[in-house]
Amino acid sequence: MSGIFVSFEGIDGAGKSTHIDRLAQAFKAQGRQVTLSREPGGTPLAEEIRQWVLNQPMDPMTEALLVFAARRDHVQQVIAPALARNGVVLCDRFTDATFAYQGAGRGFDWQILGQLERWVQTLSQPDHTSIPTPLVQPDITIWFDLPPSVAAQRLAGARVPDKFEAQPQQFFEAVASGYARRLAQDPRRFARVNADQAPEAVWAEVKSQVQARGFLT
Ligand code: TYD
Repeated sequence: MSGIFVSFEGIDGAGKSTHIDRLAQAFKAQGRQVTLSREPGGTPLAEEIRQWVLNQPMDPMTEALLVFAARRDHVQQVIAPALARNGVVLCDRFTDATFAYQGAGRGFDWQILGQLERWVQTLSQPDHTSIPTPLVQPDITIWFDLPPSVAAQRLAGARVPDKFEAQPQQFFEAVASGYARRLAQDPRRFARVNADQAPEAVWAEVKSQVQARGFLT
């Protein structure tokens, strides 16, 4: 696969959306084909699963299995084909969100999430060979890091909260610690951006992090 896979992460209210759109424009201006997507979601089936995950009460294991089922469909139908066409995939959340929300936030087993990650993001095992197939993994993950107290102020009254947005600040403290743990496990992939700044300053950081890795000139 020769495309570029970028994922965007952060607690609810971190303000990813406008920067995802700007980055899409920047890649298009350089003649790249851009696929904008999100998780849970990105295919008709995965979007249905999203509605369940965001609105139905369920135990953490059920939640983890559903987001990974949605991810499997999304990777197979959308992400891998776009990367194979040399495209740029910009995905609003990916597997780090599962470690942060279902793992750190809801307390589901980190090791089992790692096993699910390996299953779901391995596309095809060549028959009769022990050569491991590489995982479908973002080339760069932009983490919009924002204190949960600031995120809570931003979210207050913005809209009717979904199941996660309605969680107390303590939940988002745990989610943020989950992101920090993922960064520590894979520091080369992560680009941490200070999201507690004016939008223009946040955008400058996003752009320079992507440029620093040679993905954008
Ligand atoms: P979000 O990406 O914030 O979209 P919107 O801006 O439309 O609300 O919403 C997705 C929610 O799903 C968010 O609260 C995080 C949660 N989520 C998980 O719990 N696990 C996951 O694996 C993913 C991808 C998202």
